[in-house]
Amino acid sequence: MKLSSWLNDTGTRACDFAKAIGTTEATVSRLRHGRAQPSLDLAWRISDATGGAVTANDFMVRKSDAKLSAVETQGSNGGGDFDGKSVLLIMGGGIAAYKALDLIRRIKERGGRIRVILTEAAQEFVTPISVSALAQEKAYTDLFDLKDEAEIGHIRLAREADIIVVAPATASLMAKMAAGLADDLATATLLAADAPILLAPAMNPHMWAHAATRRNADRLMGDGVSLIGPNVGEMAESGEWGLGRMAEVPEIVAAVSTHLGGIGDGLLTGLHVLVTSGPTHEPLDPVRYVANRSSGRQGHAIAAAAHRLGARVTLVSGPTNEPDPPGVDTQHVETADQMMAAVEGALPADIAVCAAAVADWKSRAPELEKMKKQSGQETLTLTLERNPDILAALSQDPTRRPRLVIGFAAETESVVEHATRKRQAKGCDWIIANDVSSQTGIMGGSANTVHVITAAGAEAWPSMAKTQVADKLMRLAGRHMSNLAQAAE
Ligand code: C5P
Repeated sequence: MKLSSWLNDTGTRACDFAKAIGTTEATVSRLRHGRAQPSLDLAWRISDATGGAVTANDFMVRKSDAKLSAVETQGSNGGGDFDGKSVLLIMGGGIAAYKALDLIRRIKERGGRIRVILTEAAQEFVTPISVSALAQEKAYTDLFDLKDEAEIGHIRLAREADIIVVAPATASLMAKMAAGLADDLATATLLAADAPILLAPAMNPHMWAHAATRRNADRLMGDGVSLIGPNVGEMAESGEWGLGRMAEVPEIVAAVSTHLGGIGDGLLTGLHVLVTSGPTHEPLDPVRYVANRSSGRQGHAIAAAAHRLGARVTLVSGPTNEPDPPGVDTQHVETADQMMAAVEGALPADIAVCAAAVADWKSRAPELEKMKKQSGQETLTLTLERNPDILAALSQDPTRRPRLVIGFAAETESVVEHATRKRQAKGCDWIIANDVSSQTGIMGGSANTVHVITAAGAEAWPSMAKTQVADKLMRLAGRHMSNLAQAAE
């Protein structure tokens, strides 16, 4: 039944219906008059709210309205297109496969080519026929389809993709990928891929929280795979709620776009972004030093993200195993004093991100020769003195302060409270706070769960790959800079 008929018949007001399905009255009005098409998620909510009287099939959109409907579902990251880009979608078996159908449509609306591989389990939830109808391509299902191996083998499927999206990425699919298994078309294609891979995990919260899944996710991220989500929310199983719900389609589309270098490109063009990263090593003598466990992953990812968004980037890095990000001017230092000098030398900058874990202390007088143990010596007393605070110095610089200064706070308890105080004490604009207590595995790991603390308060971000934190942060910074520029006009 048409939504307009249902609203008329039941006498439901558009504003009440909008509230019930969690959208705006304007959207309801567009849906009602056939001027927009709901995302699959919204269609579900409509179906729920109307007791199944109005379903996704009741929203047939004319071709000329396709643009309108795309806008409807793009969310805040909308815009841009995938013209000439080829997306390979690998669908795992899970109830969220229905959402992946909507993803096919959204990618096509943006001009992308989409090929789809369904695992055997995926075919329990959606059919290859519905997939190929949406994708307007054959849906691939079997590694041993010899005819297709002749026409287009799994190597070609992998190689012709600009990006591979695995959605829903089930616990089992992730485990196979982490182990490098290649026992069906989906996993063989993933193993043969050299395109970026984006996973949208979807599973029961207990499965997501299990140590084996944590290990697999971490290993995959270490292999360069990106994750979007999962989100916190209601599960398909009734009464289940938690972390494990697949990211929403607009979020996945935005992440695909990021990887394809589409939307947001140029957000930081014309700006100089200065990033510190990694630990510092403070020498005690020519062979020994005081240091910490920072890997530099987050800082390097930020420098790379800023570069992708068009900024000129200077990265001042302490000793790390991370490769220099391409296109970024990377200056290598060892000590906090050297880092301070390199940072000052790189000014002026528009944005400074202090992600380095600078040692608070250095030896007051490092020995020039290797320190020797004296016979009978049981203790050693070192005299340490404070290192310069680079973040505070930048934030409080009366003449050369970057317009946006961002610090990091690694805390092991009361994360938001401590970080809020730190923001004030240092005088920076934003603090990105994370819990690095040992059970989180953040230190040296690939994922990060952060709180963004600004003058307006604290915002918790869901757990995501450090590369995604970097991208999201630099986009936020880009938008902030545009707002500052507009306000100054
Ligand atoms: O004071 P604390 O080390 O907790 O503050 C962390 C933040 O300050 C990080 O952004 C770090 O890069 C920065 N910092 C710095 N110079 C220091 C100490 C910390 O830039 N000497």
